[in-house]
Amino acid sequence: MAEPVIQFDRVCKSFDSHSVLRDFSLSVEGGTFLTVIGRSGCGKTTALRLVNGLISADAGRVLVKGQDVADADPVALRRGIGYTIQNVGLFPHMTVEKNIAYVPSLSKSPLWKGDERRRRAAELLETVGLEPGLAGRYPRELSGGQRQRVGIARALAAQPDILLMDEPFGAVDEITRRQLQDEILRLHQERGITILFVTHDIEEALKLGTRVLVMEEGRATQFDPPGAVMSSPATPFVAQLVRRSRDFSPRQ
Ligand SMILES: Nc1ncnc2c1ncn2[C@@H]1O[C@H](COP(=O)(O)OP(=O)(O)OP(=O)(O)O)[C@@H](O)[C@H]1O
Ligand SMILES: [Mg+2]
Repeated sequence: MAEPVIQFDRVCKSFDSHSVLRDFSLSVEGGTFLTVIGRSGCGKTTALRLVNGLISADAGRVLVKGQDVADADPVALRRGIGYTIQNVGLFPHMTVEKNIAYVPSLSKSPLWKGDERRRRAAELLETVGLEPGLAGRYPRELSGGQRQRVGIARALAAQPDILLMDEPFGAVDEITRRQLQDEILRLHQERGITILFVTHDIEEALKLGTRVLVMEEGRATQFDPPGAVMSSPATPFVAQLVRRSRDFSPRQ
């Protein structure tokens, strides 16, 4: 069995007096494509932000590659973890190229300066199916789908082995969404990275995930391969989620 790359060990997290995660435990093996689904406010974004240390647990531990994130150097931790946030979150005052180079250039690496930066950014744009000629544009000069792709290119720039994706394909049309899904599947298959991918779309969760995590009110209520989620829903909520997708073919 592969080593767990991300572990939540009885994690509790509250904001003010509002408890969001309660005794949340989960162990994600390396190379898993984990899709995360659940009602708005159930704690999906909170769980992601605990992994890269943007917020910290009140109780319990979050381990990345065996190290407690509470003890990790936050910059080093985040360099190894790509993050695409809900609503894209590109820096509006930076060109596409600077957006992409942002995380690796924090380390002042010469690999991300001048011509080398240009070359690497162009390569990443191609990886996500965009014209390298877009490198000099600003986010406002891109379509929603192009912005999403730049967000993915930026998350891949530091060659992370973990990718956290928070509703990355939310605001795009169906065809673009399907293309983006196929590209992220290809990236996952080629690079064997571990992906945590939040979505509100059950068919997206079943198509992309090698494991699906269903969250209800801050708890993990099902964590199974997509086929098992479809055939044996663990709770009435999961049954309701998959009812309309009975004929869907999940990822094998
Ligand atoms: N920084 C914060 N301060 C106060 N409350 C917060 C904060 N971040 C999240 N919350 C609250 O925690 C709960 C869970 O939020 P979270 O963002 O994890 O939900 P989510 O499952 O990602 O929802 P959505 O599907 O709408 O994105 C919500 O009630 C939210 O209002
Ligand atoms: Mg969220």
